Amino acid sequence: MNGKSVELVGVTMVFDGFTAVYPTDLSIPAGEFHSILGPSGCGKTTLLRILSGFQRPSGGHVLIGGEAVDHLPANRRPTAMIFQSLALFPRMSVRENVAFGLEARGVAKRERLARADELLALVALETHADKKPDQLSGGQRQRVAVARALAVEPAVLCLDEPLSALDLKLRQHMRSELRALQKRTGVTFIYITHDQGEALTMSDRISVMNRGRIEQVGTPTDIYDAPATAFVAGFVGEQNVFTGRVTTVEDGYARIDGPGGSFTGRRTPEIAPGDQAVLMVRPERTGLVAADAAGVNRLSARVEGRELEGPYLNLVTRDATGRRIVLHLSNDGRAHPTEGAATIGFRPEDAIVMPAEARPAPAAEA
Ligand SMILES: Nc1ncnc2c1ncn2[C@@H]1O[C@H](COP(=O)(O)OP(=O)(O)OP(=O)(O)O)[C@@H](O)[C@H]1O
Ligand SMILES: [Mg+2]
Repeated sequence: MNGKSVELVGVTMVFDGFTAVYPTDLSIPAGEFHSILGPSGCGKTTLLRILSGFQRPSGGHVLIGGEAVDHLPANRRPTAMIFQSLALFPRMSVRENVAFGLEARGVAKRERLARADELLALVALETHADKKPDQLSGGQRQRVAVARALAVEPAVLCLDEPLSALDLKLRQHMRSELRALQKRTGVTFIYITHDQGEALTMSDRISVMNRGRIEQVGTPTDIYDAPATAFVAGFVGEQNVFTGRVTTVEDGYARIDGPGGSFTGRRTPEIAPGDQAVLMVRPERTGLVAADAAGVNRLSARVEGRELEGPYLNLVTRDATGRRIVLHLSNDGRAHPTEGAATIGFRPEDAIVMPAEARPAPAAEA
């Protein structure tokens, strides 16, 4: 199988005056595992349906392997789509489910079934070929759906939240399976999720979407460590957030002055003195420091409680203004405070200062 590149050029979707997707450009190289990450209703499924030909866009073009596919219906595009519901045929065996797409393409029965067996081996289900879908576990059904989609040898496989019905352990297991399968086949995967952990662990690159726009495209490290917007910073992972007005801007850093105190962090380019801004720092970059510790970013807080997550714990604190500040501490056997006063600190290079106002809510557009 061979992956193909995908390009969206100015793709737009307006439903009865409501803009679900603003003009969007996106370029995905052949063989990439690309996730589209964003909250419910931001336009992820719409974008995927346009790409695979199930939805005609209001404007723009889709190119696959460098060729415009705008005029091609879904079944003539080199794409396959796995819907969230999987839609396996309950009365057909696993093997027949996988072979189904080949029948529609006129492949002879013997060849269809042989091909289905190869694909079932690829997803490690060869011993389950004669079962019915309801005799499989959720994760196994998921793999049948993947095998069935791969049967037509798509160059691009679109997956719409395929793991959301599975329990946590299985989901984590399937993450690495899907990722390995993608690398093994070289098929371009476009993977929709609203689970940031999934996007971060599986993807070569991620598009983060918000209210009909892609706000950032980058590697998981880019997205997590250098978010381009306050939305991306807050949606991917957790943040402790301080608000204030920018007092000084120097080199790559800005200082803000707000109700909780004065703090310094790296700044995004558009930050200028006088701006209303937010400073964000990750819980794992926020720590307990000695009350008399040197350093620019310090504040007093009270420990309110802790949440054990297993390998780490969240120490929940509140500052004098009532702001909740969470510290992500390793559960390494050291004694961590459970109550009382604490001094919290973080390094300027671990914090980021960005414009406070998110993009204005998308007004209904004609
Ligand atoms: N056929 C349609 N007609 C009118 N509005 C639509 C249609 N399809 C989608 N929408 C609207 O477009 C927006 C984007 O929908 P979409 O299904 O793409 O969101 P999503 O990001 O996939 O969300 P979720 O994570 O909940 O699946 C939503 O506000 C939705 O109500
Ligand atoms: Mg959706």
